[in-house]
Amino acid sequence: MRGAARAGGAGDRARPPVRSACGWWLLVVWSLRLASGGLCAPRTRGRLQCLQVSVFANRSRARTDGLARLGELQVYGWRNGSDSIRFLKPWARGPFGEGQWDELQRLLSVYRGSFTRDMHEFVKMLRLAYPFEIQVSAGCELRPGNTSESFFHAAFQGKEIMSFQGTVWVPAPDAPYWVGRAAKELNQDQGTRKTLQWLLNDTCPQFVRGLLEAGKSELEKQVRPEVWLSTGPTPGPGRLLLVCHVSGFHPKPVWVMWMRGEQEQRGTQQGDILPHADETWYLRVTLDVAAWEAAGLSCRVRHSSLGGQDIIIHWEGSHSSMWLMLVALLGSLLMIGCLALWYRRRRSLNTTGDLHIVLDPISDLLNKKWEWGPL
Ligand SMILES: *[C@@H]1O[C@H](CO)[C@@H](O)[C@H](O)[C@H]1NC(C)=O
Ligand SMILES: *[C@@H]1O[C@H](CO)[C@@H](O)[C@H](O)[C@H]1NC(C)=O
Ligand SMILES: *[C@@H]1O[C@H](CO)[C@@H](O)[C@H](O)[C@H]1NC(C)=O
Ligand SMILES: *[C@@H]1O[C@H](CO)[C@@H](O)[C@H](O)[C@H]1NC(C)=O
Repeated sequence: MRGAARAGGAGDRARPPVRSACGWWLLVVWSLRLASGGLCAPRTRGRLQCLQVSVFANRSRARTDGLARLGELQVYGWRNGSDSIRFLKPWARGPFGEGQWDELQRLLSVYRGSFTRDMHEFVKMLRLAYPFEIQVSAGCELRPGNTSESFFHAAFQGKEIMSFQGTVWVPAPDAPYWVGRAAKELNQDQGTRKTLQWLLNDTCPQFVRGLLEAGKSELEKQVRPEVWLSTGPTPGPGRLLLVCHVSGFHPKPVWVMWMRGEQEQRGTQQGDILPHADETWYLRVTLDVAAWEAAGLSCRVRHSSLGGQDIIIHWEGSHSSMWLMLVALLGSLLMIGCLALWYRRRRSLNTTGDLHIVLDPISDLLNKKWEWGPL
């Protein structure tokens, strides 16, 4: 079945890796001068998130990987084994020139080296234990009215321990005691704090504006969803799981609802929005109903690509109800047949004594049971 195949395909496709990343790279962008001209006002809101994951196996073994994404799209990759940033989109260079990227890559390598060395030192100083993992998530998000909001969070063993708030490093409320010490240490470094503010407040949003402009045709593409209905595994006797498949749409925000006329069906269950390989999205929305209630339901899809014209697909339960009717009919026929047979046997038993001897003992037993039973 087409629906099932497409749905399965989307489900199996790996989601973008969450564990791997490029975080502090913003820290070093400061030395790169952004071309100030040619950056237009944002047409789309954008969120640039850089993720860094550093795994320290022991005193001598560590690795740091990174990635950066714009909204849902991964745009950059940064592997421990390589000094170069991988551009995953043709427009990933954004507003930076060749020289600026070269400079950034060089600085990132230096940063990785010193981050690793400093962490080993830190572990020695604070008597922490190996292995451990550090994650950093940093970036900015453009907001309406040419404003932006930035963020910088660090996590240890999967729990947030510290963030940069406006001008200072702040330990997380439930962070271990040593984080307070680390934050104090970091806050004494005025230079880095200033640089970080400049990066987060100015460089990042400007870079994102340039990136949005460079990737506009892909980021703003509008692709209409394809919508079809099917049934899922039956939730129970006399019930149906109606499935509305919405596939191949872009951008991601979408509204899908099972309806009866204009009435939204409250039992509507929405799955995760899953990525297709071609950077469009897939969504499954289900409704568990009594089989007789399925008629008259429809799946309604609202999406920016549809220009205000929702897609409405009506549930035509004809196939399934025809099957149900057929099964019911066959069942009844079978039952009538059995009853007729039994009745005929019973009658022949009562009228002809010699047939009684020919019949096998099971029929005999059946007869007795029937005679003794409540019927
Ligand atoms: C948006 O803000 C930035 C800096 O805050 C400025 O350089 C740019 O000109 C502004 N753009 C518009 C359209 O106001
Ligand atoms: C560090 O870990 C790696 C593998 O995780 C191992 O091969 C190596 O021997 C370890 N080194 C030390 C000093 O424990
Ligand atoms: C990560 O990269 C550094 C520097 O290139 C290297 O020394 C280290 O062995 C790498 N770590 C792993 C686990 O490959
Ligand atoms: C950066 O923005 C924060 C608020 O997010 C503000 O507190 C801080 O003063 C700004 N710093 C600079 C240098 O603009």
